[in-house]
Amino acid sequence: MNELKQFISYEKMSKYVADIIEDIFKKSFRMTFPKLVLPTGSTPLGLYDELVKRELDWSNITTFNLDEYVINPNHLQSYHNFMRMNLFDKTNIYPKNYNFPNRNTQAYEDKIKEKGGIDLCILGIGTNGHIAFNEPQTPRNSKTHVVDLTKNTIKDNSRFFDSVDEVPTQAITMGIDTIMKAKRIYLVAQGSHKKEILERAVHGEITPEVPASFLQEHPNCEVFYSD
Ligand code: F6R
Repeated sequence: MNELKQFISYEKMSKYVADIIEDIFKKSFRMTFPKLVLPTGSTPLGLYDELVKRELDWSNITTFNLDEYVINPNHLQSYHNFMRMNLFDKTNIYPKNYNFPNRNTQAYEDKIKEKGGIDLCILGIGTNGHIAFNEPQTPRNSKTHVVDLTKNTIKDNSRFFDSVDEVPTQAITMGIDTIMKAKRIYLVAQGSHKKEILERAVHGEITPEVPASFLQEHPNCEVFYSD
């Protein structure tokens, strides 16, 4: 994994990642259909706004989201709804081309394989070092699976719900092995509250206690940070 790259602003960081994605879209010809993995959360909102502004052609793009709550997909706070509101409904992506994991976890793995694997995976990081919903102690060889969310993550995510009691207690997530198989990975983080865990993920021991630390073993992964 490359060193941590620090940006002077969130806006600059979002634009930088949007440039990379735009480049992939532009380089894709009729026979190559880019496959992206996308996160939800606060961090990618600037990136999604930027991508929408650029009015790119999403007609041959396939996406796989990293994770989804065990929740009705029509719920306001489902990741399905989040992606539609913040990105998909504002582009020309075909609904048949965006994918979310569900309880049939093997089918998700099979579909990724069937599509030829992931070209680019964008990740966020939780304050406990999680990537997607791979919480501390998730094994390196994990595939897409159902998880019980930790108290820490439920508390972090409660800002999107009316109360902490409304946050789902389970989610479905791509596993660490699923993520590590992507050809290219960019982890994006914003805010001083992420600094300490990022330092551990990038320079610390590779350990399931900090799931993001496994990214050190990826040959083509970069980490971006802004205050
Ligand atoms: C969500 C996901 C999570 C978030 C992480 C950071 O799809 O994969 O791992 O990336 O919890 O969330 P924010 O960006 O809200 O700080």
